[in-house]
Amino acid sequence: MLATGMRRVTPSAIMELIKTTAGGDYLSFASGLPDPTLFPVEAVRAVADQVLSRDGAAALQYGPAEGYPPLRALVADLLRARGLAAAPEHLLITNGSQQALDLAARALLDPGAPVVIESPSYLAAIQAFDSYDARYLPLPLDEDGMQRDGLATALAAGPRLLYTLPNFQNPTGITLSAERRRRLAEAAARAGVPVLEDDAYHDLRYDGESLPTVCGLAANPHALYAGTFSKVIAPGLRVGYLWGAPALIERLAQLKQITDLHTGSLTQRIVHAFCLAGHLEPAIERFRSVYRRRRDALLAALAAELGDHATWTRPAGGMFVWVTLRPEIDAQELLTRALEAGVLFVPGGGFHPGGGGANTLRLTFVSLDEERIREGVKRLARLIRHPQAAR
Ligand SMILES: Cc1ncc(COP(=O)(O)O)c(C=O)c1O
Repeated sequence: MLATGMRRVTPSAIMELIKTTAGGDYLSFASGLPDPTLFPVEAVRAVADQVLSRDGAAALQYGPAEGYPPLRALVADLLRARGLAAAPEHLLITNGSQQALDLAARALLDPGAPVVIESPSYLAAIQAFDSYDARYLPLPLDEDGMQRDGLATALAAGPRLLYTLPNFQNPTGITLSAERRRRLAEAAARAGVPVLEDDAYHDLRYDGESLPTVCGLAANPHALYAGTFSKVIAPGLRVGYLWGAPALIERLAQLKQITDLHTGSLTQRIVHAFCLAGHLEPAIERFRSVYRRRRDALLAALAAELGDHATWTRPAGGMFVWVTLRPEIDAQELLTRALEAGVLFVPGGGFHPGGGGANTLRLTFVSLDEERIREGVKRLARLIRHPQAAR
């Protein structure tokens, strides 16, 4: 009954886990939902009021597919500070950056098209690419990001897209080094391969200096860069963006138009007014300071409890730590026991487009306070150290 394209549209393991455990009293390292107590509710309320007083019915009317013009200009300013040559015509405002990823894939991928992808990678992007029947050319990660071995071969295979998450990658927290960014950008440009750079966590940096965007490092007419206000204001607003060459953005705007006409007129104005009123920097600072402490608490707890039993990443930002267990431990089986012990995490297998990773798992540090992080790691460590233990 359904189109053949639906064959690979399957439930997300994360969403299923959240659904089956909803309402339960769990210490959850699973969801990756931002902490709602940090949402700038009062500032959003105030700017929403201003927008409706100022623009009235215009804020409730249909708008252009490309986005609310003042917001396109504002995002162009933000992206110039990240090293991208950006003017309003380089930008499409999207319904969250998830839509940016989907539109890019839909525009670029024929069924069976090869996609170069980090392994592991962001689950909902893999799902979007799956829905267009992508075929993966996975490249493993090390502590400096996508490994260089294999890149030249993958690019020579004629991929239609190279998807990368250079900053604090979801799910590993790994950051692509400056040197590898340059080499990746140059190699993709030379091969004429569209880079899709997903920088959802750009502003959630806790240590060190910001690194240049891959898209800003080489002239590639097919390069696309996706960003979002979800992680620095609130995800329920659903405002993200896609940067690219004006001719490509124009075509993607046509696709956006037949998808949902445009992103909400009111929420785009709210985001624009929020930034113009100077609320963005303090909001980012608030997320950063709380998440940094939680990241430190998780890393300290892992070191104290699991030193000899696992290895893990030390992210400079973002929301996730990636844990690798001994090869004989299956994270899916561990999750069954963890549920009994009241702890949740996401097993790592599903993040691997080419399979594997059964002994890996993703922990988010943004949802629990420090004390609950320590308690959760204690329970988890007990299960890992004593494979027969439950509660
Ligand atoms: C790496 C990455 N990209 C994109 C998104 C999509 O977020 P949004 O659609 O809210 O901008 C997420 C959300 O978790 C993410 O982790």
